[in-house]
Amino acid sequence: MEKLNGKKINTAVFISGRGSNLRSLIEYYKKKKSPILIKLIISNNPSAKGLVHAKSSKIKTCIVNFKNKNFSENNLLKILINNKINLICLAGFMKILSENFIKKFKKPILNIHPSLLPKYKGLNTHKRVIKNKEKFSGSTVHLVSSKLDSGKIILQKKIKVSKNENEKSLEKKILKIEHKLYPKAIEKFLLSL
Ligand code: GRF
Repeated sequence: MEKLNGKKINTAVFISGRGSNLRSLIEYYKKKKSPILIKLIISNNPSAKGLVHAKSSKIKTCIVNFKNKNFSENNLLKILINNKINLICLAGFMKILSENFIKKFKKPILNIHPSLLPKYKGLNTHKRVIKNKEKFSGSTVHLVSSKLDSGKIILQKKIKVSKNENEKSLEKKILKIEHKLYPKAIEKFLLSL
């Protein structure tokens, strides 16, 4: 992994849907002082809404359908190598990358998850948080390991769950903090290398 010696880190962002975190990462990378250069957007879903942000910023996109996981991941590795990608940021990417892929890529992979990990790994976090009447929730940026939502935590932000909170309002609150948290976590992570 290249260190932060004035050189920007070639980054690929993986998405599957809305892409609001992608949008905030694009805003971040466009800042002069940003340590990353988003070279590539990968999506497993050709109709992911977030792809509009890639288009409007003229960032190269690649659709990799994960129908045959092994084949797709090998293809993906070639694309990442050809584009000299040194960092992957998963942002609402709904496929689980295999242990083999993580090992072969060798470079760091980050993910953002909408809960205070290690609590509420997996899907439907907001629904479960509300059902369990949690007083707090939040978001976590972590390194991706072969176990779902379990890699080393880089940064976390906590918010209060209101008494009358519902899934939608909680999602909205958390997305808002995520858009600041992900760039901050990337910066912290890269400075720690
Ligand atoms: C975010 O809440 C993120 O934490 C989770 O999926 C959601 C993606 O939202 N992994 P968006 O596509 O970035 O708007």
